[in-house]
Amino acid sequence: MSQGRFITLEGGEGVGKSTQLAYVRELVESFGHRVVATREPGGTPLAESIRGLLKGEAGEGMDADTELLLVFAARNEHLAKVVRPALARGDWVVCDRFTDATYAYQGMGRGLASARIESLEHWVQGELQPDLTLLLDAPVELGFERVAGRGGGYDRFEREARDFFERVREAYLHRAMAFPARFRVIDAARSPALVSADIHEVLLALHAAVRAEPEEGDRV
Ligand code: TMP
Repeated sequence: MSQGRFITLEGGEGVGKSTQLAYVRELVESFGHRVVATREPGGTPLAESIRGLLKGEAGEGMDADTELLLVFAARNEHLAKVVRPALARGDWVVCDRFTDATYAYQGMGRGLASARIESLEHWVQGELQPDLTLLLDAPVELGFERVAGRGGGYDRFEREARDFFERVREAYLHRAMAFPARFRVIDAARSPALVSADIHEVLLALHAAVRAEPEEGDRV
């Protein structure tokens, strides 16, 4: 049995991640893999409670380091209970946000030193990194319009000012340049159908690469 694959979706607010996550899930299932679709912060009951603290009123005025530690506490729980067991079973994990979001939001957004994030990343993840990260990139203004059009309120992150999200976008693009083997940047300013078409192409390539790998038992 081959080890599963770990795919993450990233991007600022209003870039269409939810729609595309559902698309990725369907597509990977159509390739014949079992899929665990999950999200961060969250993915287990405890990690979902931490998500509530991070996004809700209770977190108002939270110190930035507290925020960072909560993000990684939720991540540790999620990795231990959901992600690592799924990958070990050979399932594919499709995750709405992961540690690139921490570098973008807590790092560039809140201004925390990346050395702090790196040390927690190393502690919690060890060598584990996504196999593929789809970065849905769109101008901040467009994301804002889409979030406003969706109705409903704004969470603690969504209430941040525009320059916060400009830094978040810049950080994501910077990480995509720093890790070109793992990232694919997708222009999310276009229609959902065109975005899905690009994702289709990227995932077909990954599927073909996995199929071309020798199975465990074939190795000498
Ligand atoms: P979302 O899933 O609706 O985008 O909400 C998750 C929010 O949490 C989003 O505003 C980004 C934020 N977040 C961080 O600040 N750091 C992280 O590491 C992750 C995974 C998310």
